Amino acid sequence: MAEVSAPNWSETRAEFPTLARKIYLNTCSLGALSQRVRAAVNRHLDLWEEYGASAWYKIWLGECSALRASTERLLNAPAGSVALAPSVGVALSSIASALDYRQRPKIVTTALDFPTIPYQWLARPDTDVVILPSDDGISVPLERFAAAIDERTALVATTHVLFASGTIQPIDEIVALAHAKGALALIDGYQAAGQVPVDVQASNIDMYLTGGLKWLLGGTGIVELYVRPELARTLEPTVTGWFAHANQFAFDPEHFAYAPDARRFEIGTPALAAVYAAHAGMQIILEHGVAAIRQRELELVADLVERLRAIGCRLSISADLQQHGGIVMIKAADPARIVKELAEQQIIVDHRPGHVRVSPYFYNTEDDHAALVAALQRCDITA
Ligand SMILES: Cc1ncc(COP(=O)(O)O)c(C=O)c1O
Repeated sequence: MAEVSAPNWSETRAEFPTLARKIYLNTCSLGALSQRVRAAVNRHLDLWEEYGASAWYKIWLGECSALRASTERLLNAPAGSVALAPSVGVALSSIASALDYRQRPKIVTTALDFPTIPYQWLARPDTDVVILPSDDGISVPLERFAAAIDERTALVATTHVLFASGTIQPIDEIVALAHAKGALALIDGYQAAGQVPVDVQASNIDMYLTGGLKWLLGGTGIVELYVRPELARTLEPTVTGWFAHANQFAFDPEHFAYAPDARRFEIGTPALAAVYAAHAGMQIILEHGVAAIRQRELELVADLVERLRAIGCRLSISADLQQHGGIVMIKAADPARIVKELAEQQIIVDHRPGHVRVSPYFYNTEDDHAALVAALQRCDITA
């Protein structure tokens, strides 16, 4: 990766009041709240109070467009290729409703994807879901994708950074395997965008999902869906609404026409407070730069891994940290108990089956890691 001039990371901490009170190492569950995001939500409330409904036409529709445009910048996506949705599940249901399964009923996904991906198609009687296993809970070998994808495959739906291991999947190769058999590739980047560089055009991705909740620091309620423009024009989701209409303010109930761009995947009125929060969080990321954040993340993960191994923790982690995001899984007999004991000491981490999950971000420090390690030595992690 090219050298990038890094921000002064310790100065970035002042923007996150939580960090003055807690050691917050849980960005992969929920990014820390910044003053900027709080101010943006307040601005939304001020506009609501000042203008009432006319805030919609004067300002709020513009804020939705600005969020789409910032996402396009983040993902290096062309103008008009990003739609807003309230959750990954809703965005997936729009996509799932637009695919033709008659000749290609197969959906290839993996045991390490966030379960809402398989659920979307397991609930459909017209698809055949293939869930590729993982031997180690850390990754899924590329050969398994190659063996499973065939001429009956409509879609390969998998994740960029895996939520329960932190592995960065080789998405360029996965997309190429899908395309070689005429299938589409949908990548869930909820755990990736922000902490890992994404270029949807260079990676030739058909559909990419991300959202504010975690590494984009924007809280709940808004996700962003990229659809490759040439593909978008051919998809007609049957899960739809007036936001998908080419001329939504014509209020014509008798004729439905899809918007020519990615707005055809939108359904209804977005939560505006969430749009303001998501956009403010994303500005922080764009300002620091994803390349610089990634470099800092590599340093932090290497430091954390070294400290944890030094006290005998067993980790489920990629052998090559260059292929690993900001999620470190510590094997534990009773992870929920450890998370609770750490929270009592104002150290915030999370747990997933069999593991304590720690996720440092650019606003964390090596001192945070030292405090975590000292506290872990006081809990019996093997009990
Ligand atoms: C990779 C990934 N995808 C999706 C989700 C959530 O999906 P939804 O927005 O439908 O709740 C999460 C976690 O919350 C996740 O980690």
